[in-house]
Amino acid sequence: MAQVTINNLTYTYPLTEEPALREISIEIQAGEFLAVIGANGAGKTTLCYTLSGFIPHFFRGELQGKILIDGLDTANSKLYEIVEKVGLAFQNPFNQISGSKFTVYEEIAFGLENLGLPRDEIRSRVEWILALTGIEDLAERSPYALSGGQQQKVALASILVMKPGVLVLDEPTSQLDPIGTREVFQVIRSLAHSGQTIILAEHKMEWIAEFADRVLVLDKGEIVRLGTPQQVLSDINLLSSGIGLSRYTRVAHRVNQQKLWPKGQRYPISLQEATEAFGRLLSQEGGSKK
Ligand SMILES: Nc1ncnc2c1ncn2[C@@H]1O[C@H](COP(=O)(O)OP(=O)(O)O)[C@@H](O)[C@H]1O
Ligand SMILES: [Mg+2]
Repeated sequence: MAQVTINNLTYTYPLTEEPALREISIEIQAGEFLAVIGANGAGKTTLCYTLSGFIPHFFRGELQGKILIDGLDTANSKLYEIVEKVGLAFQNPFNQISGSKFTVYEEIAFGLENLGLPRDEIRSRVEWILALTGIEDLAERSPYALSGGQQQKVALASILVMKPGVLVLDEPTSQLDPIGTREVFQVIRSLAHSGQTIILAEHKMEWIAEFADRVLVLDKGEIVRLGTPQQVLSDINLLSSGIGLSRYTRVAHRVNQQKLWPKGQRYPISLQEATEAFGRLLSQEGGSKK
């Protein structure tokens, strides 16, 4: 269980002029599932880096404000202290692979070995996460002889196996097909239910609608919206900001442009909401023709 507090955070990469993050403030509750959305270059990855201590410990630059993970100030802590609390899955899974292990099993066990856990516990934790992420069949394969999607699952498993209080996931399904994406989201949600705090940068609106507790919208490094998926994802302003809408919301918007959408009714954001909303629309239509 870990709570995250970001207080007035502004960050500028080395050798750049414009801040990549500007005056970000947010409290994320323990066990909350927060999705972060925004167009390319909005600052999602940079936010993930600051949350996991990658900024300022690897990228120096200029950091103002504070990030507290359960009261631990990431800028003034040692990286090993942060790693015990926060796990980061990189946007590109290839960056995650240690390069020093011959099998997927060893790769996933690597972080636990560094923690100095007993062998039996390492084995049971690795077997648990292989089963949870559905990659038992990859255990003896080389981490390099995998497809992009398989590599992404291995990278994710090697973070999840550490059971950090805060999981920061930067587009963790970018290499996965819809089935793999659903599996990964189900795993993430079950971890949030068991108390892990999840911060997820993601493009796939349909999944955010179904799984996230709150949605944060970044634009040019600033928070422009923060609310429930229902509040944020039905907002057509997301289209003009280059983020896009789910297909359900887009269809409803098209219907509205034809003046066929009920006045004041919020757009659907998920398949279930769309089914209900269009069902009502069709039954009204049928009724008025009789
Ligand atoms: N290593 C870096 N050095 C300098 N600028 C960077 C670096 N990484 C990202 N940026 C800049 O920071 C801004 C935010 O980028 P990023 O966090 O990667 O956005 P997103 O993940 O939302 O696409 C962009 O303007 C990008 O060009
Ligand atoms: Mg990114």
